[in-house]
Amino acid sequence: MAKSTTTFVCQACGATTSKWSGRCDSCGEWNSIVEEKPLSAGPASKSLGAARGRTAPLTDLSTEETPPPRTLSGLDEFDRVLGGGLVPASAVLVGGDPGIGKSTLLLQAAAQFARSGLKTLYVSGEEASAQVRMRAQRLGLSDAPVKLAAETNLRDILTTLEEERPGLAIIDSIQTMWADNVDSAPGSVSQVRAAAHELVTFAKRRGMAVILVGHVTKEGQIAGPRVVEHMVDTVLYFEGERGHQFRILRAVKNRFGPADEIGVFEMTGGGLSQVANPSALFLSDREEPAPGAAVFAGIEGTRPVLVEFQCLVAPSSLSQPRRSVLGWDGGRLAMILAVLEARCGIPFAGLDVYLNVAGGLRVSEPAADLAVATALLSAREDVAIARDMVVFGEISLSGALRPVGQTENRLKEAQKLGFTTAIAPARSKAGDKPGLALKSYPDLAGYVGDMFGAG
Ligand code: TYD
Ligand code: MG
Repeated sequence: MAKSTTTFVCQACGATTSKWSGRCDSCGEWNSIVEEKPLSAGPASKSLGAARGRTAPLTDLSTEETPPPRTLSGLDEFDRVLGGGLVPASAVLVGGDPGIGKSTLLLQAAAQFARSGLKTLYVSGEEASAQVRMRAQRLGLSDAPVKLAAETNLRDILTTLEEERPGLAIIDSIQTMWADNVDSAPGSVSQVRAAAHELVTFAKRRGMAVILVGHVTKEGQIAGPRVVEHMVDTVLYFEGERGHQFRILRAVKNRFGPADEIGVFEMTGGGLSQVANPSALFLSDREEPAPGAAVFAGIEGTRPVLVEFQCLVAPSSLSQPRRSVLGWDGGRLAMILAVLEARCGIPFAGLDVYLNVAGGLRVSEPAADLAVATALLSAREDVAIARDMVVFGEISLSGALRPVGQTENRLKEAQKLGFTTAIAPARSKAGDKPGLALKSYPDLAGYVGDMFGAG
C-alpha cells in the first residue's frame, strides 16, 4: 500500500519537512509551515542504469553558434538590464515589494515592445482589465497594440497563449496564478512553483518570451519568488525606498548578459521615466559642503555612478551605541569602525553612528570602504571635505588600501561631472585626466593623517 505522501512546506523559504512544526528549521520563520500535496508521486525507486539509453550527441565547445537575436523595447534602461534586449524564448522574473511600481514598469515595457512590432500579451491577475486600461490611459499608452487579459486560471491562460501565439507574455503576478491540478491555495509555494514551471516550459517550447512578476515581502509571508529564481533565465529586482522617487531595476542573475547591471527610473505622475545619467541625479540636490558627506565614485554593472555617503556621529546615551545604516552593509560598517580604531587610533566608542546613501541607492561594492571612512571621519571631526572631491578604494583589515577594478571609468565619470580631486589606493592604474588630480595612498593611516591631520 502506498504511504501517505503529504509534505509540509515552509511558505517563506520553500524548505520541506515530513512533519509540521511551529518554526521552520531552515529559515527560522514562525508559523510559516503549511501542509501541501506533492505534485507527482516522486521518482521511481529503482535506478535507471546505463544500459538502455541512447548515447547523446556530443559537440565541441568551438561549435559556431550565432548569438540569439534580441528585441529592443526602446526603453533603454530596461533593455540594458536585460543584457541588451529581450531574448526570444527566455524567461524573466521581476521581483519587488508590493507597490514599488512593477506593474507600471511592465505595462510601459509591454507598450514599447508592442509598438516595436513584438506581439505582446499582458495577463493581469491582480487588477481588472478596466483598471489596467485606466492606468494605460494615464500613462499615455492607450494606442499601443498590447493584448490584455484579466485571468488567474493557468489552464485558461495556457489555452489563450496557445491560440494567440504572442512573442512576449507578461504575467502579473505569479502569486495570483492558480493551477487546478495542484491542491493548495494560490500564492502557496506549490502553486507558484507549478504555475512558473508550466509557463516557463510553455515559453521554451513555443519560442515565446515570458516575464513573470513576483512579490517579495520583507516578512516572507507570501511564498517568495525564491523558488522561481532557479527556473528562469534572468532575475531582476525592482527596488527603491518608498519615500524616494528613484527606482532601481537590478539584474541579480542573467544567463544572457552581465549580472549586477542596473537601470535607474524616477516615479513621476506620468509613470516611470528613465534616468540616463544617474550620477547627475544622485548628486543634483547637494547643499553646501557639510561635515559627514563624501562622494563615492562607484560602478553599478557596466556603468559608473557617483553617489554621496552621508554620516552623522553624535554622543550616545546608550550603553550600546547605535549603528544605523541605510543603503550599505551594516557588517561592513562595523569592520571599518574597527579598522579606524585599531589602525588609526580613532575610537567611536560612546558615539552613535548614522550612515546613509543619498537618493535611496543601495551600494554593495567594497570599493566604497574609503568613502565610508571619509564620511565617518568628516562627521566625527566636524570638518567638511572639499565639494569637488571623489573617493574610492577598499580597506583591508590591516589598514592597507587595496586597488579596485575599473579605476579608469570611475575617474572619467568624476571628470565629466566637474570633480577636481580623486582619492584612490596606491597602485591604481589610470591615465592622465586633465582637470582631475589623482592622489593615491598606500594605507588608511597615511590618508587620515594627510586629510584630517590626526592619525
Ligand atoms: P504599481 O505598479 O501598481 O506597483 P506594483 O505592481 O509593484 O505593486 O505602482 C504602485 C505605485 O506607483 C502607486 O503607489 C502609485 C505609484 N504611481 C505613480 O506615482 N505614478 C504613476 O503614474 C503610476 C501608474 C503609479
Ligand atoms: Mg502590481
